[in-house]
Amino acid sequence: MQHNQTAARSTLPMGASLIAGTPLVEMRDMSIAFGGIRAVDGVSIDLMPGEVVALLGHNGAGKSTLIKILAGAYKADAGEIRINGQPAPISNPRDAKRYGIETIYQSLALADNVDAAANLFLGRELTTAWGTLDDVAMEAATREVMGRLNPNFRKFKEPVRGLSGGQRQSVAIARAIHFNAKILIMDEPTAALGPQETAQVGELVKQLKAEGIGIFLISHDIHDVFDLADRVSVMKNGKLVGTARTSDVTQDEVLGMIILGKAPPGAAPGPGAS
Ligand SMILES: Nc1ncnc2c1ncn2[C@@H]1O[C@H](COP(=O)(O)OP(=O)(O)OP(=O)(O)O)[C@@H](O)[C@H]1O
Ligand SMILES: [Mg+2]
Repeated sequence: MQHNQTAARSTLPMGASLIAGTPLVEMRDMSIAFGGIRAVDGVSIDLMPGEVVALLGHNGAGKSTLIKILAGAYKADAGEIRINGQPAPISNPRDAKRYGIETIYQSLALADNVDAAANLFLGRELTTAWGTLDDVAMEAATREVMGRLNPNFRKFKEPVRGLSGGQRQSVAIARAIHFNAKILIMDEPTAALGPQETAQVGELVKQLKAEGIGIFLISHDIHDVFDLADRVSVMKNGKLVGTARTSDVTQDEVLGMIILGKAPPGAAPGPGAS
């Protein structure tokens, strides 16, 4: 283990050495084009355990496309993905899940007519020794994971149709972490939510962070994510504008990165900005 980490670090580009320890995720020089459009063009980002990295940029900047490569939904034309310092060829969603990568898309893909437990185990149901559905075990597991994430949640017996946006978000997150997500991708998790529910998702993110899960939080609203993120990476027209620690830059400076596509002194054009 020690040997592997040392070996991996010595092969990293310069910028990455500014970060202590081995990144959970590194995406290096990723590119993908659709027809003539370079949706992602030579982008490098990384993520440490227990870290929240916000991926920001205008509509069409390439944020979703970049994380869909990590989630195995798209195959990159060029670039390398490393997980825990090791090359991680990801060519489909199953590969990604094997590396502990779970994605929560804005359309949460919940089954509205069944309860939280049924949603948690959708397609991965627990069964008893007799081959019947083990509802008791599934509800117990759901109560355990929801208790950690959202202790105030009580609506275990209701179809999720009746839940608030924030509660639905916690069911989707519970599903990801019950199946051992180490890396969570949240694409615009608060886009459809009110202020109170947005705050609830913020609490969920803090909880996951405390459990050592690394999170890519995608947004085009800097205000939504600035307080939650340890670092921000900004994209524009498929390219990385820069990466900065939220403690080193102001929201206005990051807004400048999003709009003008230029990095301020506190940001570096790539991973490992200190
Ligand atoms: N499957 C696809 N086929 C063709 N073009 C695509 C495809 N997916 C994305 N694009 C194009 O790639 C570019 C980046 O899109 P992407 O969805 O990654 O942007 P985004 O930063 O997530 O934007 P938003 O904030 O609107 O979600 C856009 O020009 C988009 O039209
Ligand atoms: Mg998007």
